[in-house]
Amino acid sequence: MIDVLLGLQWGDEGKGKIVDYLAGQYDIIARFQGGPNAGHTLYIKGEKVVLHTIPSGVFQSHCLNLIGNGVVIDPVTLSKEIAEISVLCPDLLQRLFVSQKAHLILPTHRALDAASEAAKGTEKIGSTLKGIGPAYMDKTGRNGLRVGDVLSPSFTEKYNKLKNKHLQMMKQFDVEPVDWQQWEPQFFDAVEQLRKLNIVNAEYWLDAHLKAGKKILAEGAQGSMLDIDFGTYPFVTSSNTIAAGVCSGLGIAPTWIGDVYGITKSYCTRVGSGPFPTELHDEWGEAIRKAGHEFGATTGRPRRCGWIDLVALRYAVMLSGVTKLIMTKTDVLDSFTPISAATAYSINGEETHELPFDLCDVEVTPVYTSFEGWKDTPVSNCSSYEELPESFIKYCKFVEEYLGTTIAYISNGTGRDNLIVAP
Ligand code: GDP
Ligand code: IMO
Ligand code: MG
Repeated sequence: MIDVLLGLQWGDEGKGKIVDYLAGQYDIIARFQGGPNAGHTLYIKGEKVVLHTIPSGVFQSHCLNLIGNGVVIDPVTLSKEIAEISVLCPDLLQRLFVSQKAHLILPTHRALDAASEAAKGTEKIGSTLKGIGPAYMDKTGRNGLRVGDVLSPSFTEKYNKLKNKHLQMMKQFDVEPVDWQQWEPQFFDAVEQLRKLNIVNAEYWLDAHLKAGKKILAEGAQGSMLDIDFGTYPFVTSSNTIAAGVCSGLGIAPTWIGDVYGITKSYCTRVGSGPFPTELHDEWGEAIRKAGHEFGATTGRPRRCGWIDLVALRYAVMLSGVTKLIMTKTDVLDSFTPISAATAYSINGEETHELPFDLCDVEVTPVYTSFEGWKDTPVSNCSSYEELPESFIKYCKFVEEYLGTTIAYISNGTGRDNLIVAP
């Protein structure tokens, strides 16, 4: 069976921390989409580690880790990450596998990302500028280079052909191009490293493991509201972040899929531009940012903060068929009261529980339900479900009922063990 774990909001829900914990119960962790735009934070023996391309199962020593075909790989980021993580996991290279069909991010993809964003001016997406959009454009445009291509004797020729195409494209942007040439030597060094990795025919590799009864967890990046089809388009990323992305991003038949873990924070954040109905522009937003240390793991940008948006969450739960909910960062709200949750949107005076076609195009006023906080019994002090304060349980029950799914885990701190199993 293959279970899935994915973010239900705009990313950064704490996927890395949870995968690191759950990996104890799985044989293989497989990333199925996204690329170095992801930043998954783990605390290993008190030390902070941020993973961008490497799956978050590497710190469970029995776990194999696969970078699937749906991922876009920047060889430079990957080789830096391998160097950093190998210090902590000496056997990393024996447990890391890469699909030969994963697409590559070239230096000129990053340059195109920068040029495209600069040209958009005030309408920019707020991209991480890692070259994600241009790399996926080349994939769907049928021009991309894949991991398997690095083994071909004509790789440099293929690279130059695509690079020259990019240089032509760059001319359409009326902006100063970034100095991508400085990245080229690093790129070729990193490609050399990539050639030495376990490059596999991943769909057969996974099939054999599934048939041998191995347990696999597919690790999502970004979040459902950043999905290319169902997110807040055009302020989204360029891949399918919902459960549907697992089949195409790993080459797995849907019949293998078991549980779908969906992660939400106890509030909501977003980094980059785009609509965010429950965003708090006041001191409450600032207080959440401070309490939750809400700064991007990849770019360091301050994250926009607001109350939990149950309308958007229910949509995300529906899209992925979430069977188990995980609520993270519950400790962050310890000192807050009252706590709000958006339970409807008011659009032109009409209440709705559905996401409109284009959130950018309409004025949305969230309709809130208020909850008493749990100031007197901080959840950060709890280590079992029984110890959790009544007002917190009430909040969780409401969320479960609204979303029509049950909470399996409650995270109340950054460490692997700051996790409470719900009954
Ligand atoms: P990801 O992209 O979904 O893996 O999430 P990030 O790593 O980008 O951001 C989540 C941040 O919240 C990281 O700094 C985590 O260490 C931290 N975090 C995760 N779970 C909890 C939690 O329950 N409480 C607190 N206070 N921090 C958490
Ligand atoms: P993890 O996996 C939060 C956002 C960017 C931007 C938009 C498009 O750590 O949750 P892109 O670089 O993909 O072209 O950016 O998507 N974004 C993320 N926000 N967490 C992420 O990943 C993100 N990956 C991309 O900020 O708004
Ligand atoms: Mg992140």
